[in-house]
Amino acid sequence: MAPGILQETYNPTTVSDQTFAGKHSFPNDADSEEYARSLDSADPLRGFREKFIIPSKASLKRKSLSAVKGDEDGIYFCGNSLGLQPKCMSRYIQAQLDTWASIGVAGHFTELEESPLKPWQSMADSAAEQSCRLVGALSGEVAIANTLTVNLHLLMASFYRPTQTRNKILLEWKAFPSDHYAIESQISWHGYDPKEAMILVQPDEDHIISTRKIMSTIDEYADEIALVLLPGVQYYSGQFLDISRITEYAHSKGLTIGWDLAHAAGNVPLKLHDWGVDFAAWCTYKYMNAGPGAIAGLFVHEKHGKVEYPNGADTPVFRHRLTGWYSGDKASRFNMDNKFRPIPGAGGFQISNPSAIDLTSLCASLSVFEETSMEELRKKSLKMTAYLQHLLLKDDPERPFRIITPLDPSKRGAQLCLLLDSGLLDCVSAELQKAGIVVDQRKPGVIRVAPVPLYNSYHDVWAFAQVFRNAVGMK
Ligand SMILES: Cc1ncc(COP(=O)(O)O)c(C=O)c1O
Repeated sequence: MAPGILQETYNPTTVSDQTFAGKHSFPNDADSEEYARSLDSADPLRGFREKFIIPSKASLKRKSLSAVKGDEDGIYFCGNSLGLQPKCMSRYIQAQLDTWASIGVAGHFTELEESPLKPWQSMADSAAEQSCRLVGALSGEVAIANTLTVNLHLLMASFYRPTQTRNKILLEWKAFPSDHYAIESQISWHGYDPKEAMILVQPDEDHIISTRKIMSTIDEYADEIALVLLPGVQYYSGQFLDISRITEYAHSKGLTIGWDLAHAAGNVPLKLHDWGVDFAAWCTYKYMNAGPGAIAGLFVHEKHGKVEYPNGADTPVFRHRLTGWYSGDKASRFNMDNKFRPIPGAGGFQISNPSAIDLTSLCASLSVFEETSMEELRKKSLKMTAYLQHLLLKDDPERPFRIITPLDPSKRGAQLCLLLDSGLLDCVSAELQKAGIVVDQRKPGVIRVAPVPLYNSYHDVWAFAQVFRNAVGMK
């Protein structure tokens, strides 16, 4: 990087350990293409883009599977919805198909030379271990199984144990609908009334919920709450909640707290073990890039995962959960003797034989994360999103849009959520599409833009800002 081009102060020691927040300031020529290119050439993570298939502008318009001409890269800012495909994916999937084709059932326990894969029966454990450092878990605190909402249900089956006097679940006012429905149905299933038992924390202003507001709502209902379930990064606004403080506060009131990390896993650094989080769940198709609907992750703190045999008894003592044969100890799983011996830790929350093809795609995407760390990714992410914010907000105070996402970098992940003035969404979307830019839109007026540090470039951010400003009529 040319000296003096970027002035930034980055000091992780001055901020809460939840974040790696940095303050970035940009020079007068930051809106030049040359400046964007200079950021890319100075980016220590720039090589990761090569590990992903970036859809070309032409391919984004495809109507059939056959190849189309044109190879100019599109601009993909939708990793908050579906991450891009790692190039190694096809090699991993092919290896799984070849294993199945060549040795059939033996693939469960046989490791083939030259294969990137573990035997099918070891893949879930291996993916769980690799995921631990991404979410700040100890070995044994993560399991890979099912999908996100299913895992939320299974975790609630263990952690939501309502009584006549304590049956409420605290969630946020705009929880992702699947979470809302899952909570609603858990409450009804236990025989309580969701209208009374769902406490929706309201935002302070706009779409943002302060930690203070969450704490005061906890205070208000502390004696009636059976569970707190919140998002690590809110899907709509992109707000990164203070997981550490909120968890500590909930615990100080004797409450159990779980986190939906769909928009946090692979996006922001997490320390689930150190923060004492009771449980958490995430999908792997957003910032984790494992493919649409891929197998999900769950975290259970080690304090809840103990399995004991008091005084050498034959019957284990462990936390209640819903079980199946894959919740049971591998060594005795195939004894078929109906003597259930749960796996200690999060592994004991698995139920079924997981799909090997699904695990294969997660293993492929995790192999990319193995080459970096969440701290490095967060450092770049903070800079990219700050650059995007800078280019969108510079000059022109009369903007026909607002950024709903917190402007404080420590309170957000990669995504910025832009609320457009009424009537602008269709034409802005059309202009972005014409330019080969993929973002996520929510009617009536929101677009969510997520520069992903693994595969987006600063030039992507710059090009997006040009098209967007033009589309909303700014200079
Ligand atoms: C915050 C959040 N929770 C839950 C879900 C539902 O995930 P799944 O369909 O994998 O259960 C999503 C999906 O995008 C989400 O963003």
